[in-house]
Amino acid sequence: MPIIAPSLLSANFLNLEADCTMLNNSKADWFHLDIMDGRFVPNISFGLPVISAVRKATTKICDVHLMIEEPGNYASAFKDAGADILTVHIEACPHLHRNIEQIKSLGMKAGVAVNPHTSIALLEAIIADIDLVCLMSVNPGFGGQSFIPYTLIKIAALKQMILAKASSCLIEIDGGVTLDNAAAIIHAGADILVAGNTVFKSPNPTKTIEALKLIGE
Ligand code: DX5
Ligand code: ZN
Repeated sequence: MPIIAPSLLSANFLNLEADCTMLNNSKADWFHLDIMDGRFVPNISFGLPVISAVRKATTKICDVHLMIEEPGNYASAFKDAGADILTVHIEACPHLHRNIEQIKSLGMKAGVAVNPHTSIALLEAIIADIDLVCLMSVNPGFGGQSFIPYTLIKIAALKQMILAKASSCLIEIDGGVTLDNAAAIIHAGADILVAGNTVFKSPNPTKTIEALKLIGE
C-alpha cells in the first residue's frame, strides 16, 4: 500500500486543528508540510511556528518539504519544531552531501527533492545515503497544479537506480496527484503520494485518503 501524505498547504488555515484531527483519524500516514521562502520558489507559505503547532496536534510523521535557499541554516530549527523527515532541494544545495549528513546527525530522516527539469542522474552518488527522493511532478510553489506526465518516466528510472544500488530510499511524488493518475504513479514505482487539493478540496477528505490508500490493491 502506498504511503499517503496529505499536504497541509491546501488545508483550512483558519482552523488547522480541525484538519489535523481529520487527518489523525484518517488512513493518512504522514503530514506533508510545505515551507516556501519567496526566493527558491515564487511563493511564501508558512514557517516554524506552524510546524510546532501542527506537531502538537498530531502523532503522525511530520514530513517537512523545504522549498528554501540555504536550508542548512534552518535544519536544527525544523528539528526543534518537530520535523521527522526533512527534505531539501538539490537545486538549492551546492553541498548536498553536507546537508544530508547534517539532517541525519540531527536525528531526522533525510530527503532530496528534484524539480521537474532536474535529471535524476544527479542523485546517483547520494542515493544510498538518503531516505527518500521527492520527485516534483509540478513546478514547486503552488498547490492545485496539473501533474507533468514525464514524471512517470523519471519514477521508473529512479526505481531502477534504487534497485541497482540496493538502496532503501523511497520515492515520493509531489504535485498534481489525483484519484485518476495515482494508479499509474504507483505502477511506475512510487512509494509515497503527496496530495493537497485532491484531499482537501474533495467533498469527503477522509474517504478520498482511503481511496488513495487502496490504489494498487
Ligand atoms: C507544491 C508543494 C506541494 C503541494 C501539492 O510546491 O510542494 O506539496 O502542496 O499540492 P497539490 O497536491 O494540490 O498539487
Ligand atoms: Zn511539497
